[in-house]
Amino acid sequence: MYKLSVKHDPYLNIHVDSYILRTDTHCVFIDSGLYGQHELVAEAMQGRETTLLCTHGHWDHIGMHKTIQDMGGRVRANIGDKPYFEDHEWHWKELFGQFMNDCTIPPARRETYVARVGSPMVPEYGLEDGDILDIGEMRFQVIAIPGHSRGSLAFLEIHSGALFTGDGLIGNGFFTGTPQYMNVPDYLASMEKLARVSCETVYSDHDPVMPGSGLAEKALAGRDCCLRIDRVVRDHVKHHEKDEDLSLNEMIEAVHAEEGRGVGAGMCVTVLAHLENIEDPPKCVVKCLNRYIHGI
Ligand SMILES: [Fe+2]
Repeated sequence: MYKLSVKHDPYLNIHVDSYILRTDTHCVFIDSGLYGQHELVAEAMQGRETTLLCTHGHWDHIGMHKTIQDMGGRVRANIGDKPYFEDHEWHWKELFGQFMNDCTIPPARRETYVARVGSPMVPEYGLEDGDILDIGEMRFQVIAIPGHSRGSLAFLEIHSGALFTGDGLIGNGFFTGTPQYMNVPDYLASMEKLARVSCETVYSDHDPVMPGSGLAEKALAGRDCCLRIDRVVRDHVKHHEKDEDLSLNEMIEAVHAEEGRGVGAGMCVTVLAHLENIEDPPKCVVKCLNRYIHGI
């Protein structure tokens, strides 16, 4: 059995957790949080064969990836999140920079991003749904849960029943905000899939640890929240389909009014995912998607 510790990184009144599982011979990181806490990382790795399993490539979970890799750790991820790991300028623009006029992004977010995203790096891609990873005495099942990002993964340590979900399990939202996902059908399918997973304990990267008995309820709350947002976005488009342009800001405010939760850049990502989910979209939707998603 392993010993589990948490790398807890506070920032902007919120926090991100990553996890360290250690036996005498092996060390497994689940994500690496923000750049910093080198002593903790070095102490965990000391004399142990080290693997870092990436739940996804978003900036606040990858800060120590390059450091751990440079120290001899094997960093493993799904190919779907490749650009997040490798191109940090693109990464900022994709998640924040392009939405500067559509929502409030505190200046400290950019400062924190630059200071704590760590260095770009190339993981070993190839982790896929259903893979079984034997690492020392630990045995992990890889569960693909795309939606929050294309390459989002959960890891179930089979002997202990510990399930690590990264940001993939969001329920009605995380922090004070609404959920963030990039693909609606994938996200819905992933929530249905997680609801069927049996585990002892759930460890996410932003929410408190919770018993596995609450997993299905939270996953299905996420599915239902996604369906509510889909209705809000479709209604908004219906009322504006003859317009020349669609306002992303108005759409995220409409979701805010429905859900009563904070709206940030994450909601811009989510609304765009819902626009992409509209079959035979009117011109104004195509124009909006071209601007934000296709860069036309
Ligand atoms: Fe994330």
